[in-house]
Amino acid sequence: MNPEIRRVSLVGTGTLGTQIAIQAASYGYEVKTYDPDPEIFHKTLKKTCASMKAFGKSPTIPLEKWEEGAQKVKQVRDLSEALKDADLVIEAIPEILELKRKAFAQIDSLAPQGAVLATNSSSLPISRIESATKRPEKCLNIHFYQPAIGMNIVDIMGGTKTTAETIEAAKQWVRSIGCIPLTVKKEILGFCFNSVWRAIKRQTLYMWAGGYVDFRDIDRAWIVFTGMNLGPFGIMDQVGLDVVYDIEMVYYNESKDPKDYPPQALKAMVERKELGVKTGKGFYTYPNPEYARPDFLRGN
Ligand SMILES: NC(=O)c1ccc[n+]([C@@H]2O[C@H](COP(=O)([O-])OP(=O)(O)OC[C@H]3O[C@@H](n4cnc5c(N)ncnc54)[C@H](O)[C@@H]3O)[C@@H](O)[C@H]2O)c1
Repeated sequence: MNPEIRRVSLVGTGTLGTQIAIQAASYGYEVKTYDPDPEIFHKTLKKTCASMKAFGKSPTIPLEKWEEGAQKVKQVRDLSEALKDADLVIEAIPEILELKRKAFAQIDSLAPQGAVLATNSSSLPISRIESATKRPEKCLNIHFYQPAIGMNIVDIMGGTKTTAETIEAAKQWVRSIGCIPLTVKKEILGFCFNSVWRAIKRQTLYMWAGGYVDFRDIDRAWIVFTGMNLGPFGIMDQVGLDVVYDIEMVYYNESKDPKDYPPQALKAMVERKELGVKTGKGFYTYPNPEYARPDFLRGN
């Protein structure tokens, strides 16, 4: 337990907010959540558990303990109630800058003055959000990678005014919930490991959309190469293809380089609501994706 942070509030409980809330509750924190969709926490929990079981992955603790942690999360219908006694607030709403700035302004007005405010954004630096609050020194990026499937690494990055104490408190808190903090020393789009993962996504999407290879072969190679039990396309399905698309657009809007523009084929999947695990179909179909079959690597 981190002495400075005891109560954690999650704003947005889709794919990531739900997992972060459960991770924190499983390690003894008092967790409250707020999402305008009252069903989403349980829907996400159900899909995440089915997906973990299908491909034999578990979080940083046994799955049964993690499910017990889910029972301890308090879902709150009113944002001010969710935030009123928080020591740490983590925002996990869609990857759209204006939405996040609006949410941060609201969170700033409702959370206690001493609370640390973090965004789980996959690409937007906190320096673009902090000015929506009156406490930039307490704002930072805390970026998780689906702890439910054992990805317990977390990028941490400060903004223009974040204090060393805020960064240190966040690092300690991340360690206290069984995760590994990866600290960014100088602001970079995509943070620490997420920048590396982004390069992999861009290249693999380009190869698939251009018809150069079957995406399953990239996943097979990745599984053999890394020892993981799913590849980049399986991971993108876990992330949500709408989220992947929005993140790619952040990079494109930054560079305006046509090579950064996400493939039309990805956009078409998003329009067809083929979003991956959360809608039951993406590159693979769920809850029993091809890559979880014992003969997947043989290319059958
Ligand atoms: N999906 C991933 O694997 C992943 C990994 C790391 C980071 N992220 C980041 O986390 C954030 C959320 O991604 P996600 O995949 O969980 O998205 P998601 O679409 O699964 O969930 C977003 C949730 O936010 C809720 N929401 C929308 N506006 C809100 C508001 N104003 N207040 C409260 N809730 C609101 C929605 O109802 C929805 O439940 C994004 O910034 C994304 O880049 C996602």
